[in-house]
Amino acid sequence: MKKHQILSLFLVLILFSCHQKQLEISSNTYSEFQKKGQEISNLAQSILLANVGQAIQKGGTEYAVEFCNLNAFSIIDSLNHSNKCTISRVSNKNRNPKNALKNKQEEILWELFEGNVKADTILQTSKKLVYYKRIHIALPACLKCHGIRDADINLPTQKKLQKLYPNDLATGYDLNDFRGLWKIEFDAN
Ligand code: HEC
Repeated sequence: MKKHQILSLFLVLILFSCHQKQLEISSNTYSEFQKKGQEISNLAQSILLANVGQAIQKGGTEYAVEFCNLNAFSIIDSLNHSNKCTISRVSNKNRNPKNALKNKQEEILWELFEGNVKADTILQTSKKLVYYKRIHIALPACLKCHGIRDADINLPTQKKLQKLYPNDLATGYDLNDFRGLWKIEFDAN
């Protein structure tokens, strides 16, 4: 076995043993929350894309930087309220410090998503059901803010990013790279 295969196997075993400690998710519950998670993340994604696209047209990439935070949209708040959930995004190379991977389990999950084509999954903790779905650098426009600094990201945008996110890790990506995860947290009962 190659090194990375052994690592994957190891990670699967750890995640599996974590699962044993969690409450079992019945297949009905899994399907129900997978469907909800997919719908909510698709909606959130289209809200974000539409707003960032409009902002780029209106004032260029530099101006659009402030339209990439989910908290900027009251419509995301309404989605949270009406679905009794909390929508966020996480990444191993996060721009906003609030979007870092939150614990060991998320770090393991990240590695599994990296080595696998699985689109989404659900984890259950004692209080929550958490739906995760992969995000890729799917459009060339993403590179204007997440690509290579001088080649893809113009100078005014670099300056704005530096000012708002001094600890930014989210650059250097290429088209189709694995970028992050949608994370939709639902109360477990
Ligand atoms: C106009 C600049 C801009 C564009 C274009 C852009 N982003 Fe971002 N992106 C940002 C900013 C700014 C943040 C930090 C938002 C925050 O404060 O939560 C961010 C955050 C993210 C995050 C959350 C994790 C993190 O790093 O904090 C993901 C995932 C992400 N972007 C993916 C994408 C994808 C995929 C595209 C293309 C569809 C894209 N972005 C296009 C500026 C941009």
